[in-house]
Amino acid sequence: MTAVRTRVAILGSTGSIGRSALAVVDACADRLEVVGLAAGANASAFAAQVTQYRPKVAAMATGHALDHARPLFGPHAPEVLAAGSDGLVAVATHPDVDIVLCASSGTAALEAVLAAIEAGKRIALANKEVLVMAGALVTAAARRRHVAILPVDSEHNAIHQCLLGRTPGEITRLILTASGGPFRGHTAAQLKKVGPEDALRHPTWRMGRKITIDSATLMNKGLEVIEARWLFDVDADRIDVVIHPQSVVHSMVEFVDGSIIAQLGVTDMRLPIQYAFSYPERWAGGLPHLDLVKAARLEFLLPDRRRFPCLDLAYRALRDGQSLPVVLNAANEVAVAAFLAGRLPFVAIPEVIERAMDAHSPAPLETLRDVRAVDRWAHEFSQALVQGYN
Ligand SMILES: NC(=O)c1ccc[n+]([C@@H]2O[C@H](COP(=O)([O-])OP(=O)(O)OC[C@H]3O[C@@H](n4cnc5c(N)ncnc54)[C@H](OP(=O)(O)O)[C@@H]3O)[C@@H](O)[C@H]2O)c1
Repeated sequence: MTAVRTRVAILGSTGSIGRSALAVVDACADRLEVVGLAAGANASAFAAQVTQYRPKVAAMATGHALDHARPLFGPHAPEVLAAGSDGLVAVATHPDVDIVLCASSGTAALEAVLAAIEAGKRIALANKEVLVMAGALVTAAARRRHVAILPVDSEHNAIHQCLLGRTPGEITRLILTASGGPFRGHTAAQLKKVGPEDALRHPTWRMGRKITIDSATLMNKGLEVIEARWLFDVDADRIDVVIHPQSVVHSMVEFVDGSIIAQLGVTDMRLPIQYAFSYPERWAGGLPHLDLVKAARLEFLLPDRRRFPCLDLAYRALRDGQSLPVVLNAANEVAVAAFLAGRLPFVAIPEVIERAMDAHSPAPLETLRDVRAVDRWAHEFSQALVQGYN
């Protein structure tokens, strides 16, 4: 007897995580089936995916992108085609979808994730910005609807695995590991001279451009601290970061008896993606296994918080709470885009973020509309700051 296949929707299917997720679907074709796909602007890659996976529902970020993709779909065009935020919602809430993998970049999928939760879909979350911006709203909705949010970020996926069967009172602290990025050993003088090409050369992970820059500034780890707070309901003072250059230990949990439980594995995002799809089961998906002897030395070091101030900016945003993480995230988006465009020095990224945070008075976020209003203000304010560097 063949098992019922889990029906998957992927937001951000043409990206790094999206393509890895489709590789997982290929490897587990008897267990997984693609029902929905959504992407941003890459019409030719998207059309190729639609032709191969024949989703029932598909969406792109704009009508313009969809117009480019549509003639390439061939004879099996999706039953439902849509664009923009409504398109993401249509893909995430299609009645046939069991689990939504949110792997689009930026914050466009926020409404779609909330709509999917309301529709009772399981969420596999890669897009950490969703929890950074609206962690309280999203987790409250998930609790109310009894919907699981399964982390895809390798660190949170690891912690999820370490916490299985444990109770909150048994946890002392969460320990997130960070590779340290390409500039780990750089002096302050060297950091002043680095450009986008240097920052895009990540030592252990192949990822999209924005997250690769975030890894170089350590903002990625800062965003992950905020993400961990919401996923596991542990406050900032009990979430630590250690630099682990080998990226073999994906994260750890320390318990009240002093035991530390870690999850180890190859540096391949297909592993956490597959776990999020298979949970609570584990499947033999044909992924490479970790060779412990080859991994050999595992190091753990303190992060240099002075040279990489983004980490502490994220802790500050989390501790001050309310709307400040939205400002942190928006200012970071603007600063990273300007750095990638050659309009902002690497060391000015944290300066822009800190100035935007200083200019903001944190306020409660009751609705998504409140979140979007702060996000808009922070984007505009940070854009103006970036202009000042030109
Ligand atoms: N890569 C990793 O290893 C990794 C690990 C952990 C967490 N994450 C998180 O996962 C998310 C995706 O990362 P990534 O590295 O896969 O990024 P990426 O390679 O840049 O891919 C981003 C994806 O989002 C799509 N997209 C952008 N704007 C969109 C919109 N408005 N509507 C629909 N789709 C849109 C892009 O479409 P087009 O390409 O067609 O424009 C692309 O498919 C990020 O939040 C990141 O922090 C990534």
